[in-house]
Formats: sequence, structure tokens, C-alpha cells
Amino acid sequence: MPRWRAQAFLAAISLASAQTFPNSTTPPTNGSSSPLNNADSPPFYPSPWIEGLGDWGEAYAKAQAFVSQLTLLEKVNITTGTGWQSDHCVGNVGSVPRLGFDSICMQDSPLGIRFADYVSAFPAGGTIAAAWDRGEWYRRGYQMGQEHRAKGVDVQLGPVVGPLGRNPKGGRNWEGFSPDPYLSGIAVADTVRGIQDAGVVACTKHYIMNEQEHFRSPGNFEGSFVDAISSNLDDKTLHELYLWPFADAVRAGTGAIMCSYNKINNSQGCQNSYLQNYILKGELGFQGFIMSDWDAQHSGVASTFAGLDMTMPGDTDFNSGLSFWGPNLTLSIINGTVPEWRLDDAATRIMAAYYYVGRDTASVPVNFDSWSRDTYGYANFYAKTGYGLINQHVDVRFDHFRSIRRTAAMSTVLLKNNGVLPLKGTEKWTAVFGNDATENAYGPNGCPDRGCDNGTLAMGWGSGTADFPYLVTPLEAIKSTVGQNGGVVQSVTDNWAYSQIQQMAKEASVSIVFVNADSGEGYITVDGNMGDRNNLTLWQDGDALIRNVSANCNNTIVVIHSVGPVLVNSFYQSPNVSAILWAGLPGQESGNAIADILYGRYNPGGKLPFTFGSDAAEYGPDLIYEPTAGSESPQDNFEEGVFIDYRAFDQKNITPVYEFGFGLSYTTFSYSNIKVTKVPAGEYTPTTGQSKAAPTLGNSSTDPAQYQWPSNFTYVNTFIYPYLNSTDLRTASQDPEYGLNYTWPAGATDSTPQARIGAGGAPGGNPQLWDVLFTVEATITNNGTLPGDEVVQLYVSLGGEDDPKVVLRGFDRLSIQPGQSATFHADITRRDVSNWDVAAQNWVITDAAKTVYVGASSRKLPLSAALDTSDYR
Ligand SMILES: *[C@@H]1O[C@H](CO)[C@@H](O)[C@H](O)[C@H]1NC(C)=O
Ligand SMILES: *[C@@H]1O[C@H](CO)[C@@H](O)[C@H](O)[C@H]1NC(C)=O
Ligand SMILES: *[C@@H]1O[C@H](CO)[C@@H](O)[C@H](O)[C@H]1NC(C)=O
Ligand SMILES: *[C@@H]1O[C@H](CO)[C@@H](O)[C@H](O)[C@H]1NC(C)=O
Ligand SMILES: *[C@@H]1O[C@H](CO)[C@@H](O)[C@H](O)[C@H]1NC(C)=O
Ligand SMILES: *[C@@H]1O[C@H](CO)[C@@H](O)[C@H](O)[C@H]1NC(C)=O
Ligand SMILES: *[C@@H]1O[C@H](CO)[C@@H](O)[C@H](O)[C@H]1NC(C)=O
Ligand SMILES: *[C@@H]1O[C@H](CO)[C@@H](O)[C@H](O)[C@H]1NC(C)=O
Ligand SMILES: *[C@@H]1O[C@H](CO)[C@@H](O)[C@H](O)[C@H]1NC(C)=O
Ligand SMILES: *[C@@H]1O[C@H](CO)[C@@H](O)[C@H](O)[C@H]1NC(C)=O
Repeated sequence: MPRWRAQAFLAAISLASAQTFPNSTTPPTNGSSSPLNNADSPPFYPSPWIEGLGDWGEAYAKAQAFVSQLTLLEKVNITTGTGWQSDHCVGNVGSVPRLGFDSICMQDSPLGIRFADYVSAFPAGGTIAAAWDRGEWYRRGYQMGQEHRAKGVDVQLGPVVGPLGRNPKGGRNWEGFSPDPYLSGIAVADTVRGIQDAGVVACTKHYIMNEQEHFRSPGNFEGSFVDAISSNLDDKTLHELYLWPFADAVRAGTGAIMCSYNKINNSQGCQNSYLQNYILKGELGFQGFIMSDWDAQHSGVASTFAGLDMTMPGDTDFNSGLSFWGPNLTLSIINGTVPEWRLDDAATRIMAAYYYVGRDTASVPVNFDSWSRDTYGYANFYAKTGYGLINQHVDVRFDHFRSIRRTAAMSTVLLKNNGVLPLKGTEKWTAVFGNDATENAYGPNGCPDRGCDNGTLAMGWGSGTADFPYLVTPLEAIKSTVGQNGGVVQSVTDNWAYSQIQQMAKEASVSIVFVNADSGEGYITVDGNMGDRNNLTLWQDGDALIRNVSANCNNTIVVIHSVGPVLVNSFYQSPNVSAILWAGLPGQESGNAIADILYGRYNPGGKLPFTFGSDAAEYGPDLIYEPTAGSESPQDNFEEGVFIDYRAFDQKNITPVYEFGFGLSYTTFSYSNIKVTKVPAGEYTPTTGQSKAAPTLGNSSTDPAQYQWPSNFTYVNTFIYPYLNSTDLRTASQDPEYGLNYTWPAGATDSTPQARIGAGGAPGGNPQLWDVLFTVEATITNNGTLPGDEVVQLYVSLGGEDDPKVVLRGFDRLSIQPGQSATFHADITRRDVSNWDVAAQNWVITDAAKTVYVGASSRKLPLSAALDTSDYR
């Protein structure tokens, strides 16, 4: 059956916002994967129920036992947020006082804890990706989880693999890992395992295609209303690119997934039945719960049927006091529109995630408040009630600063070195330049949610932030090193003090110039950048700063702190620019980490998790910065398919400045002896069979009298509760459209056993996709005089006409002593050599000839061998 069909069904059930459908929607019945044919999202119902697949059996059983005890109102409570700024966390659901079960606490961010004191500020996802180190990704996840756990957080709102990074200007790319799905997939899986092993639920986000900030939500743009952008893509691109890392996160057991603000193929992210029901809970066998992004829910019943399990922060608009769920969810059950098993399933999924990570034993009461740093204040910040102790100022940092420093150094990429690095620390005269070398005059947390670019850049802006406990600046760390060795260090940190800069550069024996480029979440605009970057050049006149220094000093070292690639055309080839380092967004130990690299205390081994080009247009379609259809959803057609980042450069034969996977060391490595071994594996069998029928864990009364506000109840103003205001259902709904005779989607209430999906069968997809088909080995030799790390990369050419030249399918970071060799080892799975077949609706190994490459970057691949897949087809 063609899955991407023109269907106007969702339009009928969208209560809150009109759906628009493009005119030309020829269904791809012939297996075509042309993206523009597919700007619609077909309905898929019912929403699959949790079954305890994979290793979820025990958690499922515990969750089912818990939810079986709950009343209807209690089940509504744990699925519905209590409203914006109503409680201590960035999001909370209702509690179950009868059973002593506290509200579940959701807290930002993907790099630490937002809105709290005595927490660590870890390197950003897009920075630690450059370490290419599974162990460090796990450790960072674990340490973040430990901190959340100790503050009383149940669900950490991270990690991020959406945005994936389709275009480098995307404002939130830095929160995620890499535009390469394989690299992102491994990074997200290790991060999820780390967070959850620490006893906290990871919420992988934003599902899906949340690739830009402009128009991500419906709202005002320059004074007029514009509906949310629709990211339009085809089934093949979905599977081979954007869904890939989500599959890894699900396979790693992510307890929660956050649906996104944007529309996908013109259906709202949080009520897209195809993506939530069919793809995520069906094909990927996701056993946890889907939570809405903040205010990304736009309907009640429609989102319930489309698979949403938790609404955040719970109110229709911040502080409206009204909800699409809460009383409306109670009503939709008792008026017979939504079957109770769907609510049972949502509650069971939430509780299963809770038990899966061991929250029943790991939980401590929340000991901080997101909305105030004061020790005493209101428990209900918006309502201004519940005055008391709100911040216990618990220090949860442990000794995490050590690994933060080390991983920031491990993630630093050496892009150019004329032999000047490492510095000895005994240089007579060190000059440091740039406002990026020093501290924000307002303090490291002086701009709310890091919404400015003042001082050294160590994280982007928006909700994906944490307060710095301190921020070691590059200038401080350089001074400390050079000072100990008796040298001279001076600095000019005003980028526009041209004469002082030029004068000092002339005197210096080495000049170190710090420059940056920032971006963030769209609710804050910095220097005219509404989240997304307006361009790829350096900020704060960085190019002029480098010019002013390098024109006067033949030993100019440039350090770039940035959210992603920047254009380096104006300086990278200059002979006076003797070295260039990309240090990303390193977190609290920024200065120490870069000094470790500059002075050779740590030999750089990071490699770029994206491509440095010489023109923004090389990366493919631009972001959409202006409304394209009046007030209607801008249509963002992902015409480039799977060709983003290095795949686009390869396809268009553009030579990058620094390619994906590139990075130098203070030593050198050589590659030899590739060896490919075939591993016996069975034939791939699509999953068949049926699920069990949906269990109903309660059979609640439909008598409205039972769901009225308890007498004597002291409620918090604008808080969302599950209770009804009236025994007249229409009155209780406060909804003029209550009871309108909508035709709800066919099958939405069907609780009978459902057919399993061929490409599914277990969390992440068909388990046979992870069968190892080949092992690959190669010898890597350190030819220099220093110990160093080499990130060895394995790429595969899938060989088809529509395939990228090569795709990353393996890597390892090896530490090798001088003169020594190490063996690189990688497994190639069935999934690694498969393509998504839209007609078969499954992964297939095509008969195109396949090749494996091993080398130092996406463009330095000295070793290769044929991959004979004939036995596995
Ligand atoms: C879509 O169809 C409508 C009605 O036929 C027409 O008015 C409109 O111009 C078409 N839009 C495009 C983009 O073709
Ligand atoms: C729902 O949660 C609220 C907030 O935690 C709590 O006050 C209320 O008692 C709960 N209701 C039920 C029925 O458990
Ligand atoms: C119920 O939902 C509708 C929108 O579907 C909303 O207008 C109404 O205010 C909600 N009612 C309550 C009591 O929150
Ligand atoms: C901080 O940044 C803001 C804009 O981002 C700018 O207006 C302001 O002048 C800067 N202040 C300092 C002290 O750097
Ligand atoms: C690019 O954006 C930055 C930040 O807003 C700005 O400083 C810079 O001048 C812009 N570059 C160009 C070429 O407009
Ligand atoms: C810079 O110029 C001086 C004087 O010509 C020379 O001794 C030195 O080696 C040069 N340094 C670099 C890094 O080129
Ligand atoms: C109302 O609350 C008070 C104080 O908690 C209690 O004494 C009283 O019995 C309650 N009344 C009812 C009707 O529940
Ligand atoms: C209950 O209904 C009344 C009007 O009948 C309204 O003023 C009040 O805000 C409602 N309360 C809640 C919590 O919905
Ligand atoms: C049932 O309740 C929901 C939530 O208030 C409402 O949207 C829907 O229209 C109601 N259906 C009927 C048949 O009354
Ligand atoms: C609702 O619509 C269905 C089909 O359109 C129709 O059969 C049914 O009679 C309607 N019910 C009411 C109460 O209007």
C-alpha cells in the first residue's frame, strides 16, 4: 500500500488550525521517491499501544500494575501538564496524591540543567560530536543525568537529533550532534544510555524535521499572522536521513520523544498520525511516551488519536488556564469519543519510561525552582501562591569539571598548522585578541538564556542552555600558562580598537585571535538573527579583526568558537595565519581546554562533524526567512533529499574548505592493510503477525457527577486540573465546538489486534537490521614523535544512482603511541548497506556494487575494498 498518499483526512480532524494542502500530489504508487509528490501525510490509526517489546517487559508490567489502580481523573492528571510556570520545573504534570505519587518533572536542557544554580555547563552536542568518542558521549550523558537526578528532575529534555542540521544556518543545530545521521545516531544512543543509566528519563527531540527557527510555530511575523512551516519530504529521505538517528534513540531505549512545532507534509508535528502512530510507535516500536513541545499541541481529540501521550506545558496558550486535555480529556472519555484504552496507553507509556530507568528508586523530591533563584518564593510562580522554601541550592556538579575540560579539548579540531603549534609557553610576547577571548561584561549568565554574543562564546542561546557555574575564559587560561613561564601576555578585547590591535600585533611573537559566530532559538533575536543565522560569516567583525592582526604579525593563530561552520575565505590561506582551530561551544572549561590544546598538554584529535564550505549556497536550499504564501504555512520542500552537508558537496563536486571528518594532530598517521571479513547472517525476514488487542485498564463511569471539582478543594489559579466545572458536558468543555459531529478518522478507536509492520518488530525497527554482515579491519600507524588520537572513519558507497558518493558507516577514536600501530575494527550491519525501498516499505540491499572505504576524513580515503553483498540479498 502506498504510504504517502494525498489525503484530506487530517484537515477534517484538525480542530485548532486549518490544514493546507498543495495542489499537485500524485501518489508515488510506482515507488517513485520524488519529494514534491509527497507533501501530504496520510492518516494512520489506531495509535499502537505499548506491548513491552524488546527489554521493556518488566517496566511495562510495573506500569500496567500502577495504571490499573488509577481513576480516570488520576490518569488524566499524569498525562496533562499543569500549565506554564505553574510548578517548579519547566514542565510538570498532575500528581496522584492518593498514592503518594508526585508530579513528574520535566526540565531543559540537552547540555545540562537550565534554570538552576550549582549545575555544570557541559559542551554542546554539536561540539562533543567532534570528539567522535562513544565513551565520552556516554559519560557526558551519565553526568548530566546524575545532575538532573540530584535536583529531582524526572525527565531531561534532551538529547537533540532534530534539527539534524539540513542547513548550517539552522538556529538550533548546535544543540544536536551532526548533519550526518550515522554519527548523530551513535551519539544520541550513547547519550540516551548515559542519561537513563543515571536514573533519569531522556527525551529525544524534536520529532521531526524541525530544521529552522523562522515560522516553526504559528504566530506573528512582522505584524501579520503566518502559520507554522511545513517541512515536506519523501519517504526515502525520511528513512535514510532524518529518522535514522531517532531509530537509534528508540533502540537505545529513550523513554520519551518530543514532537515538534513545525508541520510535516502539512500535518502538525504533534497530531501527525502517520509519523507518530505508524512510523514511531509502529515501525520503530517506540515503547515510551510522546510529549508535545511547549504549546505544540493544537487539538484535543485529534492529537489523542494521533498518538500524543503527554501535553506540555498543558495549557492551550501559556497561562490561559485552559487545556486541550485536562477537563477536555476527561470529557472526551466520558462522552465516548475517545476509548479509555487510549488514555490507559498514554499513562502506561509514561509510567513504563519511569520504571524503565528506575525512577521508582532513583527519585528525590525537586529541590529547585525554575522561575526564581531566591531561596524562598512562590511554589506556583505564575499564580503567586504557595510561598515557602523553593531553592535548596543543592550543588550537583560532583567532579564533572574534569571531564568537561577533557572532552572540550578532545572536541577541538585543528584545521591548519604551519608547525607553530603546539606553543611552548615560553614565547616572549603573547598577544591575545578579540572580545571572544574574554568574559561578558554582564557576567557569563548576564543575558537571559544566553541571548547575546558578548564575551567568549561557550554555548548558543535559547532553551538549550544551562547557567555557567563559572566560565574560564581563553585569556585567563593563556595568562596563567604564559605567566608561569615568565612570558609577556597582553590583550585587546575591543574588536574595533584598530590602532591598538595593529600596534600590539606588531610587537607580538605570537598572536592568538578569538572569533565567533552564534545562533539559538527563535524566541530571542540577537543582532538581527531570529534564532537562525542570517549568514555564515564571523560575528563582531571577526574578519576585520583577523585582518588587522595578521597584516601585522606573521604568527597569527585563529581560534573559532561557533555553532557550526563559518566562512573562512578571507584568512585561511594567508601565510601569516599560521594555525586555525575550531573549538565549537566548549562549556564552562572553555579557556582551560583551548590552552591545553595550544600549549600541547593535549594533542588535538577532534574531527569536523560537518563541512566548512566557501559559500552558504554550497550547502543546498536556503532557510525560509520570509512568508511565502501570505498567512498560510510556508512550504519547505526538502528537494535535495538525502544530499545535505558532505553528501551535497560530493554530489555537486564542490571542493570544501575543510571537509566533513577532517582534523589534524600534532603527529601524523598512516593507513594500511584493509581486511574485510564476511559474517554469516540469516536472510532478512520482514516482521509479520499481529499485536495483542489493546488492554483496557479501567472501566470508568460516564457519570459527569463523579468528575466534578472536589468540594473544599483549594486550587491554584490557572493550574490545569482534570476536573469538570459542570455536569453539563458542553458547559464544562468551555468549547463552542463541543459535540460538533466530526467524523473521526476510521480505525482510531479500533482496539483489535493490529498487523505488525515488516520493517518493525522491536524498538528501533526490525532487529535483523542490526545483524553484522561484515567486519572491517585496518592498520593505523602513528608516524610522528608524539602520542596522539586518530579518528578512523569508515564510509560505504551504496552504489545506486540516487545514492551519495559515500556515507559514513563506522568510526573509532584510537590512541596510538609514536611509532606504534593500532588495529581499527568496525562492524557493518545490514542497515548500513541497505536502502529504503518505498514500494516494499522496507530496507533492502540493492544489487548495485558496494564499496567500503577507510580513511582520515570523508575525502581522504586511502583504503578501499569491495563489499560483496550477494549472499545477503
Ligand atoms: C491551487 O489550486 C487553486 C484552485 O484550483 C488555484 O487557485 C491556485 O492558484 C493553485 N495554486 C498553485 C500554487 O498552483
Ligand atoms: C491532580 O494533580 C493536582 C496537582 O498535583 C492535584 O492537586 C490533584 O489532587 C490531582 N487530582 C487527582 C484526582 O489526583
Ligand atoms: C477545551 O478545548 C477547547 C479547544 O478544543 C478549548 O477552547 C477549551 O477552552 C477547552 N476547555 C477547557 C475547560 O480547558
Ligand atoms: C552585549 O550585547 C548586546 C547585544 O547583543 C549589545 O547591545 C551590548 O552593547 C553588549 N554589551 C556589552 C557590554 O558587551
Ligand atoms: C553576518 O551576521 C553577523 C551577526 O549578525 C554580522 O555581525 C555580520 O556583519 C553579518 N555578515 C554580513 C556579511 O552581513
Ligand atoms: C615571522 O617572521 C620572522 C622574521 O622574518 C621569522 O623569524 C619567523 O620565523 C616568522 N614566523 C613564522 C611563523 O612564519
Ligand atoms: C473541608 O476542609 C476542612 C479542613 O480541611 C475539613 O475540616 C472539612 O471536613 C472539609 N469539608 C468537606 C465537606 O470535605
Ligand atoms: C469554571 O467555570 C466558570 C464559569 O462557569 C469560570 O468562570 C471558571 O473560570 C471555570 N473554572 C475553571 C478552572 O475552568
Ligand atoms: C467529547 O469531548 C471532547 C472534549 O471536550 C469534545 O471535543 C468532543 O466534541 C466531544 N464529543 C461529543 C460527541 O460530544
Ligand atoms: C453525525 O454524522 C454521521 C455521518 O455523517 C450521521 O450518520 C449521524 O447521524 C450524525 N449524528 C448527529 C447526532 O448529527
